[in-house]
Amino acid sequence: METKVYTDKNDVAKQFAAYFANLVKDYGTFHVALSGGSTPKLIFDVLADTYGNTIDWSQIHFYWGDERCVPPTDTQSNFKMTQDHLFSKIKVPKENIHRVLGENQPMGEAMRYANVLEINLDRVHDIPQFDLVLLGMGDDGHTASIFPHEINLWNAKDHCVVATHPESGQKRVSINGKVINNAKEVIFLVTGTSKATKVKEILERGKGYESYPAAMVAPISGKLSWFMDEDASKLLS
Ligand code: 6PG
Repeated sequence: METKVYTDKNDVAKQFAAYFANLVKDYGTFHVALSGGSTPKLIFDVLADTYGNTIDWSQIHFYWGDERCVPPTDTQSNFKMTQDHLFSKIKVPKENIHRVLGENQPMGEAMRYANVLEINLDRVHDIPQFDLVLLGMGDDGHTASIFPHEINLWNAKDHCVVATHPESGQKRVSINGKVINNAKEVIFLVTGTSKATKVKEILERGKGYESYPAAMVAPISGKLSWFMDEDASKLLS
């Protein structure tokens, strides 16, 4: 596991974008599960603005590690965020965008999306394998949409699960921990002071770290990196 600390969110975005552009060069088809929330916005802007004309986007297939069960036009939609900050600025074939149909029934959609992964991804250890899974981390230690109060979903039998946001009750479709840990590479993108306590508890295996889904990220044979800014990493020893 590697931790990379950069000055601020802008630098994290720049460094990640350069890393991603270099990583995909070594691949033919590349299957990536995107994360949602606010951190990826800047990263998608930098990716599009700096590498929009140099990355061969036709080789990249986009999925989501988790999605809110809302229409694709809703401001809460991770697809809409990606559309606004990335897809609207690059040439990517529509068939390369595998969005969660958030407007459908959550349980039925989780089953459909699990099938989308089965059809499109190689299976390793009998589990769909992403080339790269991007993750954020919530202040409560959640990742993708596996929250502490539903940590039992981490090892769920189904590869895609229906999760419930602890405050809003919003339903979400999320890949489970087995799919995350089966990836060839997992990268956390974590910035901001609000994450510092959890980053310390998780990376330094502090008291109760096992209750945080983000602490359960340990790729079976893949590479794990944390891209952070100074604010998020400031409490690390
Ligand atoms: C989501 C994300 C979620 C996110 C974290 C961090 O759909 O919200 O996938 O896991 O990555 O909540 O979000 P920020 O980057 O906004 O802090």
